[in-house]
Amino acid sequence: MSLQRTPLSRRQWLTTSGLLAGGTVLAPDALRAAVPEAPHVVDGVSTPAGLAAHEAEVRASRANGMVRLASNENPYGMGPAAKQAIMGGWAEHNRYGNASPNELRAVYAKSIGVPTECVLVVAGSSETLSIAALGYGLQGGELVTPWPTYEGLPRYAETLGARVHKVPLKADFTHDLEAMDRRITQRTSLVFVCNPNNPTGTLTDNARLRSFVESVQKDTMVVADEAYHDFVEDPGYRPMVDMVLGGANLIISRTASKIHGLAGLRTGYVIARPDIIERLTPLVTSFPSVFGARGAIASVQDTAYQAYCRKQNAEGRAIMTKALKGLGYQVTDSHTNFVFFDSKRPTPLMQQRFEQRGWLVGRAFPPYNTWVRISVGTPEEMTKLAGELPEILKA
Ligand SMILES: Cc1ncc(COP(=O)(O)O)c(C=O)c1O
Repeated sequence: MSLQRTPLSRRQWLTTSGLLAGGTVLAPDALRAAVPEAPHVVDGVSTPAGLAAHEAEVRASRANGMVRLASNENPYGMGPAAKQAIMGGWAEHNRYGNASPNELRAVYAKSIGVPTECVLVVAGSSETLSIAALGYGLQGGELVTPWPTYEGLPRYAETLGARVHKVPLKADFTHDLEAMDRRITQRTSLVFVCNPNNPTGTLTDNARLRSFVESVQKDTMVVADEAYHDFVEDPGYRPMVDMVLGGANLIISRTASKIHGLAGLRTGYVIARPDIIERLTPLVTSFPSVFGARGAIASVQDTAYQAYCRKQNAEGRAIMTKALKGLGYQVTDSHTNFVFFDSKRPTPLMQQRFEQRGWLVGRAFPPYNTWVRISVGTPEEMTKLAGELPEILKA
């Protein structure tokens, strides 16, 4: 049987493709000229016109299909400046050893205010966690970690045959530093802290966490995961970079996957003392691609885009938190791009309920087996989901 194709006349095609305006055929160049566009990026920073065009694109791209709220991604993706800069990767994408990761290293160092030797650029912060495990004795060693937390490092540790001491969070969902301290012995190879913590989104008190790290780093290496630090607006919060400059045994892990929206381009970085960077460097198996590096270079400097994402995220998070609390659910105090609440029913059942209505949410994080993690989408998505919550969560 032959496939019947409806012949499409040139005029029909022009109509469907939007090249006909008021009966007149416009050449693409004329079309562009007819709609003068305000610049989307000026001096590397997104303009209001750029942000508005970006938002319209995001809205169109998210109109159909399942909404992914399971992996704490940025619903807005990369910003206008990063998008523009990524095109610069075409000049280098077919070459090995391109200059972009080195350039990114210098850009990160400058933006953080540390010497370049204190920065190592890697293919996502998951890479940082694996090289820290390899470089600091987890082959048969011991890890002390809060629990639950981001599982990257504990998982590598177990794969490498390490003993993993999982120290339950306190009732307020912050790190139990006293209990962690009690589990540290001469056999401890690494101590992990994650602030804000995933999956709870909570901040551990700044002064207490710093004094804990200050004390334990004398005897063991500490890994501080700051994947979500860009979202924190709490005036009491301070990232730990100054402790690296003070010479601490400390590996700070950061990522371009969250506020910078580059999760698919695998870009992250380490901040540590130069000798620690030297020890970790030979263990790196994967650098960001030229596109990831170009995007990250632009994104770090696009402060307008970061402020925009922070604001949209705070708005979306507030909508979801208020809706859940309004329905009587316990919600953690999240400083990140996700909310975590006790649904009082088994998490897999809740995941199914959300999924049936088109929302993909996080899996269970034992021992919080009735809690659900919802990554913050756009404020419009959060408003829509808030409206559906009574139905999704009904008994
Ligand atoms: C706390 C934390 N660290 C690290 C990662 C890994 O991020 P990436 O490998 O994309 O940099 C994640 C991802 O969700 C995370 O939540």
